[in-house]
Amino acid sequence: MFEQALVSVENLAFVSALRNSTLMYPVVNAGHILGVSLLVGGIVPLDLRLIGFWRTYPVMVFVDVLRITAAVGLALAVICGALLFATAAPDYARSPLFQAKIALVLLGVLNALTLGRVMTRRDIRSLPMESPMPLDLRAGGLLSLVVWISVLILGRLLGYF
Ligand code: HEM
Repeated sequence: MFEQALVSVENLAFVSALRNSTLMYPVVNAGHILGVSLLVGGIVPLDLRLIGFWRTYPVMVFVDVLRITAAVGLALAVICGALLFATAAPDYARSPLFQAKIALVLLGVLNALTLGRVMTRRDIRSLPMESPMPLDLRAGGLLSLVVWISVLILGRLLGYF
């Protein structure tokens, strides 16, 4: 039943056109990579600031700007990733690497939402400038770093296995 649904997705007219297009497939792939770049390029400095780097710069400069660029990047990566997935849906769905990647994307999103709530609850805007972040924020930042870099590596490995 699920397998059948995936085969139907793969056989949709616009998905078949995308799979066979020598122009559109690379464009969507580039869109995915642009999304990944914005996401990882924003999340890495933000997480490092939470962990304890660059403490002479206000944390909110990182949070206010980089979480927007990271969220836009994630949205782009998810949209273009879903299109890439559709072109070979049953094969990707069967791949343990792909399953692990999606599970980690969900964990990363959950962690980011939790971090956002903890930042609000702890009112980090009012923390003294150079003080270290509370332990839960440092741990969340470290988890975020590990999760998103793992997603990136799994995504790249998918092309080889
Ligand atoms: C729900 C979200 C996502 C879906 C459905 C998805 C799906 C895909 C698919 C189907 C591919 C093509 C794999 C192949 O070469 O056969 C791919 C490639 C890739 N993905 Fe994702 N992806 C998602 C999110 C992400 C995120 C958040 C990251 C990074 C943090 C990421 C990193 C990559 C990388 C680095 C590649 C390899 C690109 C290349 O070498 O051309 N993906 N993704």
